[in-house]
Amino acid sequence: MKQFRPLSLRLAAVLGAALLAAGAARAQEAAVPPAVQTMAAAIAAELARHCPLAEANDAAAFESCRAALFGDSTLRAHLPPVLLWGRQSTNPNATLRQTNLTQFAPDTWTHLYAPLFMFNGKHTVEWVPEERQYLVRLEAAFRNRLAPGQFPYPFWHEEAKWGTYQNANSFLLWVHPKTAKIQVAQFTNRGPTPMLQAVQPVKHKFEGTWLWTDAGGRTQPAVTLFDGLYRPENPYLRTLDRQYRDLALQMRESQCTQCHVPNNPDKMSRLVLLSTPAHAAGEIDRLIKSVREDKMPMDEFRNSYALKPDDKTWLLESAEAFKATVQAARAWEQRAAKQAAPVAWQPVRNGHEVPQ
Ligand code: HEC
Repeated sequence: MKQFRPLSLRLAAVLGAALLAAGAARAQEAAVPPAVQTMAAAIAAELARHCPLAEANDAAAFESCRAALFGDSTLRAHLPPVLLWGRQSTNPNATLRQTNLTQFAPDTWTHLYAPLFMFNGKHTVEWVPEERQYLVRLEAAFRNRLAPGQFPYPFWHEEAKWGTYQNANSFLLWVHPKTAKIQVAQFTNRGPTPMLQAVQPVKHKFEGTWLWTDAGGRTQPAVTLFDGLYRPENPYLRTLDRQYRDLALQMRESQCTQCHVPNNPDKMSRLVLLSTPAHAAGEIDRLIKSVREDKMPMDEFRNSYALKPDDKTWLLESAEAFKATVQAARAWEQRAAKQAAPVAWQPVRNGHEVPQ
């Protein structure tokens, strides 16, 4: 004869087991304070809302993701003045310190890099004692089938790099415990979670230049001239293009382009890119300062030296001209956005609308 325990006892046993499991999980999470969990959840939800999984060639999805992240996003609010970004090291034991990364201004990264990824909102947060930082791992996929001019530079200049981008399944945000800012962001194709969708690999040929002119006479990559972000009628776009070319010429004269390019010939561990208008725009203040103070350029032993007075003057003049146009283009865009915004503003006091 079968013995049945009363329902209430069985329920208690099941509940007890569930509580024990929850307790264990809580103990593991104890190292991650609620504020960090909340921040990670907010960023993950934002990324899933604005940059959801789509076809890897969906240009409209890319643009709406880009506009959202570049604007007043939670992600952006948690970026420091200089963010480090790059592939997870192929050496699984490498620390962040030992990993080559690139330095980005928040504008550049939220405009050109983060929106190349798609998200489903699933994420984990853990404390990594070796790095003394919180690690937010987001499940992600990469938009590998966009047009070549939608990537900030030809990632395919190096086959392994393009392979990691194409097959990325995880997006990592390292959060500093004191500042709650994202110090480092990385992507990897070795995340513990499965690929979010099948990848159709794309083969591109690298033509050897970081900027090029397409058959229609347009400077490419178009994204680096703020295509899709700034309105096409922005009157400063052509000047930006021309003045960047002037600046690039001066940078070549002054050896800057021997080091500050994506293939990183000098093997800098914290690369600074100046190879496109958008990259240079993000670094323009640091560029001017380091040349003015004779910290740049450097020789092959990484000793700073002063440029010849003429070269220094011309480089600084073209940098200042480019900077002024970057600022004018940005201000024009802000005015245009304000004019285009619907007039739905209502004064709000104590959370209640003020009666008219
Ligand atoms: C031989 C390689 C080399 C050359 C040539 C070179 N740089 Fe650098 N640059 C570096 C390295 C390495 C760093 C990182 C310095 C550091 O933080 O230790 C750097 C850093 C910078 C930074 C960031 C500075 C900061 O505030 O942290 C800027 C901007 C910069 N370089 C601009 C230039 C410009 C402009 C030129 C040309 C006039 C130039 N560099 C030439 C190697 C080079």
